[in-house]
Amino acid sequence: MADSMEEWLADSNEALTLQLVRAPEDEAALLGEDMQVVAPFHPTFTYPIFGEHEKIFGYKGLDIQLHFASGSLKQYLSINYDEMLESEATPADDIEGTLYNFIPPDYTKSELAFAKLVEADATGFRPLGEKIGSSVRAAATAKGKGKAKGKGKGKDESNGDGEALSEDDEGAVVYEMYKATWSTPGFKEYHRRMQLYILLFIEGGSYVHEDEDAWEFITLFEKRKRPGSDVATYHFVGYVSVYPFWCYPDQVRLRLSQFVILPPYQQQGHGSLLYSTLFAHVIGRPEVAELTVEDPAEAFEDLRDRNDLRYLVAQGVPEDPSFLDGVGAGTRGPRAKWEAAVRKKHKIAGRQFDRLLEMLLLRQLD
Ligand code: ACO
Repeated sequence: MADSMEEWLADSNEALTLQLVRAPEDEAALLGEDMQVVAPFHPTFTYPIFGEHEKIFGYKGLDIQLHFASGSLKQYLSINYDEMLESEATPADDIEGTLYNFIPPDYTKSELAFAKLVEADATGFRPLGEKIGSSVRAAATAKGKGKAKGKGKGKDESNGDGEALSEDDEGAVVYEMYKATWSTPGFKEYHRRMQLYILLFIEGGSYVHEDEDAWEFITLFEKRKRPGSDVATYHFVGYVSVYPFWCYPDQVRLRLSQFVILPPYQQQGHGSLLYSTLFAHVIGRPEVAELTVEDPAEAFEDLRDRNDLRYLVAQGVPEDPSFLDGVGAGTRGPRAKWEAAVRKKHKIAGRQFDRLLEMLLLRQLD
């Protein structure tokens, strides 16, 4: 491209800003706890939308704002720039037309209409599906970059007097998880609004097919009480999708396909909470033989290892006296049988279980 044209190129990851927007009362409640309202953030990837070079042509000072009502994820789009290239030979990229292929068509471009949607969320939005888990945590602070107070990560915490933190304690924030499928009323539409995060944050991520009818989803929400009111508001944090495959002879293997926690909520234990809730859900379903993961990203592998290890240790697996039997002694038989039985009981996929045993072994040798 000629040098003179370069100045019309914008980095699409930088040009696109995402924001989760809450009603003013909900924002005021957060600020009252010395924490910033949920800060704007940028996508990690935009190549599925704007092409492999992640560039947008034809604008100077380009600023694309895509805002989501924090619960319903209804969207507001605003495209601004200082200058647009007027050229028939090399026309500027059609940004809205491009985005239109990836977001539901009911987004608004009116600030006023969006403000009304956000306010409607506060009183009317509830997560869809069946609640399958919750966790109460101490409110985060701006200084602690969202670090939870008290001990434990992603677990119910103490209120400082040694008692478990309850939903009604001051400063408590509740996180709830909901399971949904395509047959959950309204969920298909909801999923069309949240699936954009898969393209923007998972490398190689793509949309799932709505005609594959067995998809299952678990969504994670932050639940807050509105100040001076008993009404709770719900704010989207992330989600996981899984697909069941037949597993000989009469069970299913659940394959985790997509897992995302939105950037403002990362590094606070929410990923662990969502994963461990999914795992507990799997353990509780007799028809599920095991949980496998499709093409895990490194950061996710890390999260999975930490949680699986914590789980196995809590189950007393390394303390099992037969664990070290035969290790290094050349008697594979009994150990292999033990491994197969333990693996099956805990529904962990084969390769992952071998990795975990290696890690447990190293831990014991330490
Ligand atoms: N305060 C500070 N740090 C904490 C806290 C806390 N309260 N709780 C946990 N952490 C730390 C953990 O120790 C961990 O640290 P480490 O990475 O140094 O080991 C780190 O935070 C991450 O743990 P979580 O907070 O539980 O995980 P998070 O919520 O950040 O989610 C995830 C991780 C899912 C990878 C997220 O970063 C994400 O969505 N990334 C983008 C999308 C992606 O890559 N998804 C996975 C694709 S693979 C697939 O889909 C199959």
